Formats: sequence, structure tokens, C-alpha cells
Amino acid sequence: HAEARYRAIVDTAVDAIVVIDRIGTLHSFNRAAERIFGYAAEEVMGRNVSMLMPDPDRSAHDGYLKRYHRTGERRIIGIGREVTGQRKDGSVFPLELSVAEWKADGEVRFTGIVRDITARRTAAEALLTAK
Ligand code: HEM
Repeated sequence: HAEARYRAIVDTAVDAIVVIDRIGTLHSFNRAAERIFGYAAEEVMGRNVSMLMPDPDRSAHDGYLKRYHRTGERRIIGIGREVTGQRKDGSVFPLELSVAEWKADGEVRFTGIVRDITARRTAAEALLTAK
């Protein structure tokens, strides 16, 4: 029962929940991730998480992971960051990224939670330019 309950929680979450391994390979992609990025889970499973972002991060993300494994220095894990994502149709959008690290049978895994902040950004810009 526990497994089905976790599945239901993950699949009804409003934010995208994405799991990768130590080299960035995608292992889990919930319903919200399908909606936000425009890919079906089976299209992305086994591919690199860098497919979800535009350059320059797309070409650099493997290096970010390597840097983290080498130094242990956390720049997003436990901190969060506003970054830019890219949908299947090529369009880009602002997102708030949170990353957590965990282990499954001795294997490193990272869970990323992605919130589309397009509406928040538009509202903030409207306030800034309002006279
Ligand atoms: C590091 C961008 C998605 C896991 C980074 C860094 C950037 C970045 C810029 C390096 C930070 C620095 O060195 O200052 C992005 C963008 C994403 C994305 C634009 C858009 C989709 C994800 C997702 C995960 C993830 C979904 C996990 C499932 C990590 C990890 C690190 C990292 C583990 C290294 C640890 C750290 O810097 O704390 N990412 N990322 N990223 N990212 Fe991503």
C-alpha cells in the first residue's frame, strides 16, 4: 500500500518532480513534469536531465554534477535557484529549482522539484514597470 500512496502523492503534485542518478540520467518524471515540460515520461526516461534546459546550462550540466562529486560543494542542493527550463517545443520559461540528495541501495540519487514561475515573473515585472 505504501508504494501506491507515494505514487498518488507524486502524481497529484502541482510541481514537477524529477529523479536523476549521479551522471544526470532521468529515472522518474511525474505527471506535472509531463505537463510543464511537454514530454511524456517514457520519452525522457534514461536520457540526460540536460535535455530539459537551454544552453549554456545544457552543455555545462554534466560538468556541474562532476564538480559537485569532486568537491562536495553544494550550490543548489538545499539552497534552490531560479533558472531557465526548455520545453519539448523549444520554448523557454523561468523555473524555481530545489534539489535534494539521497541514496538507494548505495546509489546516489537527486530529486529535483521544479516550479514554473512564469506567472510570478510576469506579475513582478508588471509591478516594476507600473507607474
Ligand atoms: C547543478 C541548472 C535541473 C540537479 C546545477 C547548476 C546549474 C543548474 C546552473 C550549477 C550551479 C553552480 O555551479 O553554481 C539547472 C537547470 C535545470 C536543472 C537550468 C533546468 C531544468 C536539475 C534537476 C536536477 C538537477 C531537475 C535533479 C533532479 C543538479 C545537481 C547539481 C546541479 C545535483 C550539482 C549540485 C549543486 O550545485 O548543488 N544545475 N539544473 N538539476 N543540478 Fe541542475
